[in-house]
Amino acid sequence: MTKKIEAFIREEKFDDVKKALHEIGIVGMNVIEVHGHGRQGGITLAWRTGTYKVDMLPRYQLNIVLSDHNVEKTVETIRQAACTGKQGDGLIFIYPVEDVIRIRTNERGRDALTYEGDIDAIQPGKK
Ligand SMILES: Nc1ncnc2c1ncn2[C@@H]1O[C@H](COP(=O)(O)OP(=O)(O)OP(=O)(O)O)[C@@H](O)[C@H]1O
Ligand SMILES: [Mg+2]
Repeated sequence: MTKKIEAFIREEKFDDVKKALHEIGIVGMNVIEVHGHGRQGGITLAWRTGTYKVDMLPRYQLNIVLSDHNVEKTVETIRQAACTGKQGDGLIFIYPVEDVIRIRTNERGRDALTYEGDIDAIQPGKK
């Protein structure tokens, strides 16, 4: 079973998260700059002239598609590297993935996701 991890993290934590992911053998990933808010609905800034609200804050959306059995390890790696303990640290979503097609070779599913040295290239119980 293939899953997609979608993590919304602080921009300043991206380098730490990327490094931690490389260390556990994550190769394929992509990142998008997004604007959004969580349950606080943004932040209120105080100026001498008064306060105003910034409702859509910048975050990085990190996307990783990988095998089921590597999800927990990957999520925990992201969580630890992205955590400051303050509000706005982000959220991680996990979705099922129907299929993957590598355009160049027309490989599908696991074959299309396997890179040399990647966490997914190592199958439990197989050599
Ligand atoms: N329900 C949601 N759907 C999609 N994206 C969301 C949702 N909630 C938050 N996000 C995205 O996640 C980012 C981080 O959210 P945030 O960390 O503020 O979550 P939170 O639930 O409010 O947690 P905290 O209480 O730690 O602030 C947001 O800036 C937004 O981009
Ligand atoms: Mg929040």
